[in-house]
Amino acid sequence: MKYSALKGVHDIFPPDVYLWQDVEAAAREVFSAYGFQEFRAPIIESTDVFVRSIGETTDIVEKEMYTFTDRAGRSITLRPEGTAPVVRSYVEHHLYHLPAPQKFFYVGPMFRYERPQAGRFRQFHQIGAEAFGIDEPRIDAELLAMLRVFFERLGLEELNFEINSIGCEGCRPNFRKALRDFFSEKLDRFCPDCRRRYDQNPLRILDCKVEACRTLRDGAPRVTRFLCSACAEHFGTFQSYLQLLAIPFTLNPEMVRGLDYYTRTTFEVTTKHLGAQNAVAAGGRYDRLVEDFGGPPTPAIGFAMGIERIVALLRESGTTIIPSPVVFIATVGEYASKEGLAIAVRLRGRGIWTELGYAGHSLKSQLRRADRLSARYVLIVGEDEMRSGKVQWKRLADGSHGEMPFDEVDSFFMARAEP
Ligand code: HAM
Repeated sequence: MKYSALKGVHDIFPPDVYLWQDVEAAAREVFSAYGFQEFRAPIIESTDVFVRSIGETTDIVEKEMYTFTDRAGRSITLRPEGTAPVVRSYVEHHLYHLPAPQKFFYVGPMFRYERPQAGRFRQFHQIGAEAFGIDEPRIDAELLAMLRVFFERLGLEELNFEINSIGCEGCRPNFRKALRDFFSEKLDRFCPDCRRRYDQNPLRILDCKVEACRTLRDGAPRVTRFLCSACAEHFGTFQSYLQLLAIPFTLNPEMVRGLDYYTRTTFEVTTKHLGAQNAVAAGGRYDRLVEDFGGPPTPAIGFAMGIERIVALLRESGTTIIPSPVVFIATVGEYASKEGLAIAVRLRGRGIWTELGYAGHSLKSQLRRADRLSARYVLIVGEDEMRSGKVQWKRLADGSHGEMPFDEVDSFFMARAEP
């Protein structure tokens, strides 16, 4: 019987995994300079956590959640995103008592039952960041600045920062009305989902992925025209901070995002290099969500990026990371092989990546393997060396070589372990 991974779900192994590690390391490095601390939330939650926050009429909740009933009859969902679990936890543990802002980041798998295609998977991975407790738009700009540094650290440029404001509860009713007015005449040409959304939540029509609906919404009213003065001022100040920080951005008044919890600032980081799935990161404010979950009024903002898409960009830009051992120990004969094992275990104890040649492999084939692994040094321990008490070393990059007494091996490599 042969098994294969489920559709839309992928294994990650070397050398790709090194790109993943680099992306995660870059996030940890950059985000911690901005004061974000790691948060580890569960992968499963009560289904309600997602339905209430992401919204009943969204694609995610209507079509994409992995929901099951557990043995006690509770409805459980594999998290399709990371914000709702963090907010649930923030409220459950009363983290709002801590001084604002509280800033968290998370890394991990998310699950959406989408139609798999390039850049779109059923299990995918996000690095997300959430900042709680600050209303002023400086923090909105700080998040974009942090994203910019993160992408620069990975050598990814040519990214587009698209921003919008979708207003607050106060501005929403007028916008909803304008949308209904605009869509009312052509409603029968929309997909059944959109016809339902028309009554429940017409904003969601702007996010429908069905091609016919996309065309029908050409010329629809834009949310920015309906912003109240406080939201308009917030959005204007946000933009002035981006200018101050020299972060280039484009206004995208059509961006409403696919989740219901957003208020005011929304943004996406897009690329020209990934085809249809062009968003590598996306986020925005969700100033009402903590309250909706039973906490005190707490403005908040965050984003998440798709690791698969970032890794795809790195691959496309020709980045490869293949780490190599510092030392390869080739041995000939039984005594030498014991000595080789002892040296290897000692060097590894000092944190030096050491590989061993194994019995049954000729010296030639051991050296070939050292070469294939791109080991920096080869140590040769054979019968002659055992007799003379000295090992031979060779540096593969330039062919330089020499010999040294056994008891100098550790210090020799300690001094040379850094690349
Ligand atoms: P989202 O736009 O649904 O937002 O997802 C954020 C990012 O996750 C996308 O831009 C994309 O890079 C990646 N992504 C989403 N779905 C898939 C998929 N099926 N396959 C591969 N990558 C995918 C959120 O999830 C919000 N929680 C972001 C947020 C945090 N907003 C505020 N705080």
